[in-house]
Order: sequence, then C-alpha cells, then structure tokens
Amino acid sequence: MNGNPAVHNQWSSRLAFMLAAIGSAVGLGNIWKFPYITGEYGGGAFVLVYLVCVALIGIPVMMAEILLGRRGRRSPINTMRELASAEGASPWWGVVGWGGVVTGFLILSFYSVVAGWALAYVVEGGFGAFQGLDGERAGALFGELTASPQRLIFWHSVFMAMTMAVVANGVRSGLERLVTWLMPLLFLLLAVLVGYAMAAGDFERGLHFLFDVDFSKVFMSCDEAGLCEFTAEPVLVAMGHAFFTLSLGMGAIMVYGSYMPHDASIAGSTVMIALADTLVALMAGVAIFPLVFANGLEPGAGPGLVFVSLPIAFGAMPGGQLFGTLFFVLLVFAAWSSSISLVEPAVAWLTENEHMSRRKAALLIGGLAWLLGIGSALSFNLWSGDEYKVFGKTLFDIKDYLTANIMLPLGGLAIALFTGWAVSRRLPEGELAMRSPLLFGAWHFVIRYIAPAGIVLVFLNAIGVV
Ligand code: TRP
Repeated sequence: MNGNPAVHNQWSSRLAFMLAAIGSAVGLGNIWKFPYITGEYGGGAFVLVYLVCVALIGIPVMMAEILLGRRGRRSPINTMRELASAEGASPWWGVVGWGGVVTGFLILSFYSVVAGWALAYVVEGGFGAFQGLDGERAGALFGELTASPQRLIFWHSVFMAMTMAVVANGVRSGLERLVTWLMPLLFLLLAVLVGYAMAAGDFERGLHFLFDVDFSKVFMSCDEAGLCEFTAEPVLVAMGHAFFTLSLGMGAIMVYGSYMPHDASIAGSTVMIALADTLVALMAGVAIFPLVFANGLEPGAGPGLVFVSLPIAFGAMPGGQLFGTLFFVLLVFAAWSSSISLVEPAVAWLTENEHMSRRKAALLIGGLAWLLGIGSALSFNLWSGDEYKVFGKTLFDIKDYLTANIMLPLGGLAIALFTGWAVSRRLPEGELAMRSPLLFGAWHFVIRYIAPAGIVLVFLNAIGVV
C-alpha cells in the first residue's frame, strides 16, 4: 500500500485493480447474456450497435466512474455527496449512489439464480450428463433444472453464500487472489471452444450471423401478414447491455476506483478493461452460434441458449466431460467475481456510515438479495404463468430488463452529467492526468455532450418520441 490516507484499503497494484475490474466486467453478461440477446435481436446489426455504445458511451463513462471514485475514496453514496458539496453542487447528487445500491440489489437477485444454473451444470457435467446429448435432450436437461423450484433455490442459495463469504472478508484479501488465476484460464477454455466450433460447428453461418450487418433484419419487426415496422427496442437493449457488461452505472466501478492507487492511468486501464470484456463476449458468441446452427437450435431461444448449446459440444468432443465441467466451474468463478462488485457499494456505505463490520453488512445485504432472488427462481416454474406476468414478462425478465435497459443507463447519464457539468473541469483533469491536452479535451467533450445526448436519444427513441 502506498502512503495515501485512504478510508478503505487499496489494491496492491495497478494490475490488481485491473484484474478486479475485469473480474467485475467479465461475467454472465458476456457468456450468458450477450449470446442470448444477440440471438433474440437478430445478430450483426445488434452487435454493431452494442460495440458503438461501448466505445462512445461505455468507455468515457467508465473513466468518469473511476476518477470520481478515486477522488472521493469513499462509497459511491458518500463520494457523490462529498464531491458535490466540495464543488458547490447540490448534495442531492448522493441520490445517484442510492440508485446504484438499489440497482445492484435487483441485479444480484437474478444474477445469482443464473449463476446457480452454472453451479448445477458443474455437477451435471461432472457426472457425465452431457455425454452424447443432442439438441432435444440438451433442452430437456435445462428444462428439468428450471422446472424445479427446489433445485433453483438451492443453487441460488449456494451462490449467494459464496458471494457473501468473499464480501465479508474484504475485497483485498478475498478478491485479488480469486481473479488472478481464473480469468486467464477462462479465456483459454473459450479459445478451445472456438476451436471446437470451427471444427464441428457451422462456423461460417455463425460468423455471418454475428458480423453481417443487416439493419433491416434487426430493426424491422414484422407480423404474420408481412407488415413491417421500425422497432427501436434493439437499440435500447444494445445500449443497456453495454452498461451491464462493463458493470457501469451503479457505482461498482466507482467503488473499485476508490481502491485504486493514485499513480495508475485511468484512461489506459479503462481501455484495457473494455477490450478484455468485449473480446470475451465476442469469443463466446463465436463459440456458441456455430454450434447453435449446426445442431438445429433456435438463436432466439432465450436465456437458456448457452446452457443448451454448449453441453452438446461438450458431450461430443474428446475430453468433453473434463472440459465441460471445467468450463462451468470457470463460469461460476467469472460470475462470482462479478457479483461481489454488485454489493460492494452497499457494503462500503454500511461500513462507513453505520459503522457495521463487513461481516454484518454482507449478511444483511446478502440476506435481502437472497430473499428477492426467490422470485427470480420461481419465475421459471411456479410463477411462470400468464397471471404472474406484467407486459408478458416474468419477474425475472422484468428485473433483467428494468435494471440493464433503464436503471443503469440512467445512472450512467447522471454520472456523465455530474462529471461533465457539476464539477469544475479541474477535477477530472487532475485525476485523469492525461499527457495529451487534446485527448483530455476530446474526452471532456464526449462526457459533456455526446454520452448524455446518446443516452437520452436512445431513451426517447425507445418510447417513440424521436
Ligand atoms: N458486468 C457483469 C457481467 O457482465 C455484471 C455486473 C457486475 C454488473 N457488476 C455490475 C452489471 C454492476 C451492472 C453493474 O456479468
């Protein structure tokens, strides 16, 4: 640790910060969510919009979150409030921190259920359940899991306990060790899967699906009579996913930034984090879609896509029992290092303001998120009927949709406005310490105008105003 009088402990090095941030960013969002929404929204054009959002909105907003966190050195709630009052802005900016705490809760309450699927599949894979699966039997295996409230709640509970165990011990001791080894390993295994998809899947068709940009396919929705109209929803979902996959808009990266050593470059770290995150998502897509097409699966099959397509591959490849089990183990670890960041803002605030021990704070937050998560687990069985749906969506879907597509972008908008307008230019300038004034000027322009305007436009577009 350097001599900085930090409120919380700090990462031991820039590398440790990077690994933790990558650990937070790379998770179910990349491997579970990205392929399934890309499948649902028709492929290449959706991917392109998502990439544009990462570059134009995600990267600048991530830089803002990290710099605010490092300057404030407190939980996001207190950081926002204190920086605001130091800069003569309204203390109400603290609300952004509170919004983030609520959003993190809601996300964890469905994230943990999906991570539970991965846990269940570690056991399935270990016992050889993937051997010789075809598309139909892979679907049945997944269907049996989600049909059982007991199994879903059991695995959800296991994952929540795992998350809280690390949170209780503090980010430094718990997290650093966890991510240093596992991220590279996950990456390697994804490469193996890409290789397998190349050899055994419909690789060409998968690549065409992912990278052929056909806007009419994604942005026109047609009814049975063949009448088509423009739909803005994919743009909203692509933007929402850019926030979700980079862990932006709720203070997770801000709180990690608050543990960042002072001499590390924020811009450089951000670009590396975003690149790593994007690479993992694209690799997952490149591994999965060739298998989807080769096995006659439906790309738009929904949240089960990864859990149905990959086991087929593991069941057929040499060494598949080992690889399959290992893959889901690593997926669990990726989800684990992400879920921790979802509660860290809340836990940091409780330890600061309520003088709670980390252990107590973890227990409290974990207990609440666990309870809320029961509803997500039941969304696939007892509460899957129409009488439990709102706008045709289950509780699980609603939490997923609302957090990623509305709450995170709203949080990101607030962070951009705060950094660009509420504080003086000197604050980000000093904290980013970029060598090129031109580059800083460009970032400042983007955070003041481009990112906020982009987010607002996508919102207005989604509700049909523009
Ligand atoms: N980014 C993670 C993923 O892709 C999920 C996540 C962790 C997250 N922390 C977050 C999403 C904070 C939004 C905000 O799996």
